[in-house]
Amino acid sequence: MFLFKKKSKPVEKRICDERLSHIAFIMDGNGRWAKRRGLPREYGHKKGAEVLRKIARYCGDINIKVVTVYAFSTENWKRPKHEVDAIMELLDEYLDFLFTTMEKDDVQVHFIGDNSPLTDALKEKIAKVESDSAHYHRILNVALNYGGRDELVHAFNSLASEGKKDITEEDVAQRLYTAHCGDPDLIVRTAGEQRLSNFLLWQAAYSEFYFTDTLWPDFSPEDVDRAVDEFYSRTRRYGGIK
Ligand code: IPE
Ligand code: IPE
Ligand code: MG
Repeated sequence: MFLFKKKSKPVEKRICDERLSHIAFIMDGNGRWAKRRGLPREYGHKKGAEVLRKIARYCGDINIKVVTVYAFSTENWKRPKHEVDAIMELLDEYLDFLFTTMEKDDVQVHFIGDNSPLTDALKEKIAKVESDSAHYHRILNVALNYGGRDELVHAFNSLASEGKKDITEEDVAQRLYTAHCGDPDLIVRTAGEQRLSNFLLWQAAYSEFYFTDTLWPDFSPEDVDRAVDEFYSRTRRYGGIK
């Protein structure tokens, strides 16, 4: 008997319109990708960082205005120190890459999350990349030491210290790390897990979700096309009737 590898259906590259301006990616599966190859998990993160560069650029090519990527959660500190150190080293390299590409990609970079536990060197680089890129037009949000609950607690503490009363949804939204951009239209999670893992809890209220078994280091522009196609097949009702 012959066994044929199942080929996934090719999809056409789409140029996105105002219905899809913000995509968020939960970049999961780096560890499993490395394990399947008998490699240390760090190799998966290295390959994952390369894929991030490619996917962020591709999103610009198809007219996505805002890309948000989950790079490191408030819970990821539970991992072995060598793995955390390797991820921080890759982020440092990624910052260097952003300095050389932000102009060409016309991208404004924001690190979202609590950066207080980061090293001073990393904090300074982040501040510089953010200020140097502030005048560009597309937005890249890198969620680093990000937790949705942490973000909400941070927002509530800001409101409390301002002595704010009669708090509105807008008041909360303005104090989130994402105050500079809208909510994600589409959240893509790779590697099979179907959960948020503390990502954009407030902002995901009416996002569309796309889950794929593809591991992040294998994720390609064609996979973005598939997610985009799926998004355009959905009807967003926001509780109303279409
Ligand atoms: C995602 O890949 C990257 C981070 C969480 C930093 P994982 O490292 O979680 O990969 P898996 O889920 O163990 O395969
Ligand atoms: C979510 O992935 C965090 C990032 C992708 C940075 P995890 O691998 O940490 O999530 P869980 O533990 O499977 O929920
Ligand atoms: Mg994971």
